[in-house]
Amino acid sequence: MAGKGKDSVFGTIGVALALCLVCSVIVSFAAVYLKPVQQQNKTQDRKKNILAVVGMYDPSESIDAQFEQFETRVVELDSGDYAEGIDPANFDGRKAAADPATSHPLSREEDIAGIKRRADHSEVYLVRKDDGSIRYMVLPVHGYGLWSTLYGFLALEGDGKTIVGLSFYDHAETPGLGGEVDNPKWKAQWAGKLAYDEDWTPEAEVLKGPVNPSNPDAEHQVDGLAGATLTSRGVTQLLRYWLSDDGFKPFIQKVT
Ligand SMILES: Cc1cc2nc3c(=O)[nH]c(=O)nc-3n(C[C@H](O)[C@H](O)[C@H](O)COP(=O)(O)O)c2cc1C
Repeated sequence: MAGKGKDSVFGTIGVALALCLVCSVIVSFAAVYLKPVQQQNKTQDRKKNILAVVGMYDPSESIDAQFEQFETRVVELDSGDYAEGIDPANFDGRKAAADPATSHPLSREEDIAGIKRRADHSEVYLVRKDDGSIRYMVLPVHGYGLWSTLYGFLALEGDGKTIVGLSFYDHAETPGLGGEVDNPKWKAQWAGKLAYDEDWTPEAEVLKGPVNPSNPDAEHQVDGLAGATLTSRGVTQLLRYWLSDDGFKPFIQKVT
């Protein structure tokens, strides 16, 4: 029997509704209140990854202070020129790539990295030597693996050809298989490898299986990820794309 007061059906529904309302207010408040904190954490994480890919990250020091060694610029990819009108502080490469006003679709032949659209511009992060020449350039790269788009940074020395490091900060490949792109031992193989041949043809490659050091092409190659041929191929393809004329090659050639 339906009782009176808070034990009645209306009372029960009323309490449930009130509880829902209170919870939704708390969740909404948390979402709005925490958004800037999340954004700040994302920015810090990005900076940390950029520092780490060139081996400059020191966990005992402030990330912001260390990041001051970097010069952040926005580059127009087609020409390879710096885009003077765009403030790097307000530029978001992922948003630019999704917006038809600031990106263009890629044809099947062009889209070897499986990214569908390419932004007109990209950030680049530079570390200079005392004489003003470039010591390191860190380039954002992304491309499709097996299950996901891998987002990361490719770091080159000032010659534009020698790889300093490659690391991914966002992907959903399988841990233990494609997820081994995060394995420090695998990542360490990239240091000193050559991204291009003498004619500026992109040659960096993840093999299927181990590198044969006596092969002359070994200077461009790292070992395949065991049981993850498709992720390995995805990494090769994204490197080939971002090192090509469609990617950062015009910029790299201008600054070397
Ligand atoms: C549960 C599961 C997860 C897998 N995850 C990956 C992966 O992250 N990357 C990948 O390349 N292959 C992954 N594979 C393996 C692929 O399905 C495929 O067999 C393999 O990439 C083919 O190349 P192989 O010659 O190395 O076997 C996964 C397979 C299974 C069953």
